[in-house]
Amino acid sequence: MSRKVLITGANGMLASDLIPLLQDSDFQVYPYTRKELDISNPDSVDEAMDQCQPDVLINCAAYTQVDKCETETEKAFQVNRDALAHLVKGCRRYDTLLVHISTDYVFDGRQKTPYHEGDPTHPLSVYGQSKLEGEQTIVDSYDSHLILRASWLYGILGHSFVKTIIRIATEREALNIVNDQFGSPTHTINLSKAIIHLLERNAKGLYHYSDDGICSWYDFACEIIEEMKSKGFPLAVKEVNAIATSEYPLPAVRPQYSLLSKEKYKGTTGLALPHWKDGLKDFFNRYKH
Ligand SMILES: NC(=O)c1ccc[n+]([C@@H]2O[C@H](COP(=O)([O-])OP(=O)(O)OC[C@H]3O[C@@H](n4cnc5c(N)ncnc54)[C@H](OP(=O)(O)O)[C@@H]3O)[C@@H](O)[C@H]2O)c1
Repeated sequence: MSRKVLITGANGMLASDLIPLLQDSDFQVYPYTRKELDISNPDSVDEAMDQCQPDVLINCAAYTQVDKCETETEKAFQVNRDALAHLVKGCRRYDTLLVHISTDYVFDGRQKTPYHEGDPTHPLSVYGQSKLEGEQTIVDSYDSHLILRASWLYGILGHSFVKTIIRIATEREALNIVNDQFGSPTHTINLSKAIIHLLERNAKGLYHYSDDGICSWYDFACEIIEEMKSKGFPLAVKEVNAIATSEYPLPAVRPQYSLLSKEKYKGTTGLALPHWKDGLKDFFNRYKH
């Protein structure tokens, strides 16, 4: 019998790609937007759990505005940490597998080799800290969980670096992009597939997932612009300048290096990972301008 899956944050970037893929993979999907289910409200969580009684709950809801989290600290912790206790409580009542998405920002980026699941965490931002404490809330209190840490997400819906570059490359002649932070851009379609592959194998515990390969934000921007050229976007941009993080200060400090090791994921699924450049090509094949 197909499993019932409740999705929170159903209007978000990841959820919008995950929902149709789950439906195609023979899960019964029950998407809840923030209006329908506020994960920071225990009554709202209980009501949705009673209504749906899911086999699996995938928490795609989060407070994701990394820089705003620095000032809206209370909201960050309410949604990214405290809400996980409400979800755990609800999941326990129906013996539901809790799937949660976390982030590479739990690391400080001082390591020079890919981060494994067991490596020490040390977030540099309120967002990273709130996400880490959300993970810990689950791990400390509920065994039936699957946590995926992902990095540098982009998708068709919502805000992302890719969408920002598409916008500014059509408006400005010169772009200044940070060239000393390294990570792995990850298409939300590929993360969605990874979640499904793990669900199909009844995986539990903590996993890292990102698309394969590594680049800087500058490399990523250049590749986005190449894709835009090949798709005939009306470009204004003539030069892309590599700058240092110190020349583009933001409220939240990001890790300089956040490559996630995917060895555990590969071991469990036996699957090869798509390269981030292929993920980007796939995005541009779907994106309508
Ligand atoms: N984006 C990245 O680069 C990145 C990287 C690594 C990990 N992640 C993680 O991946 C997950 C999905 O991120 P995403 O990029 O898809 O984020 P997103 O587009 O911002 O989606 C998050 C969704 O959560 C909803 N939400 C916020 N507060 C809520 C609440 N109290 N109750 C219920 N829903 C609420 C939002 O609704 P409204 O829009 O109505 O507020 C939004 O639809 C998150 O856990 C995020 O931390 C993201």
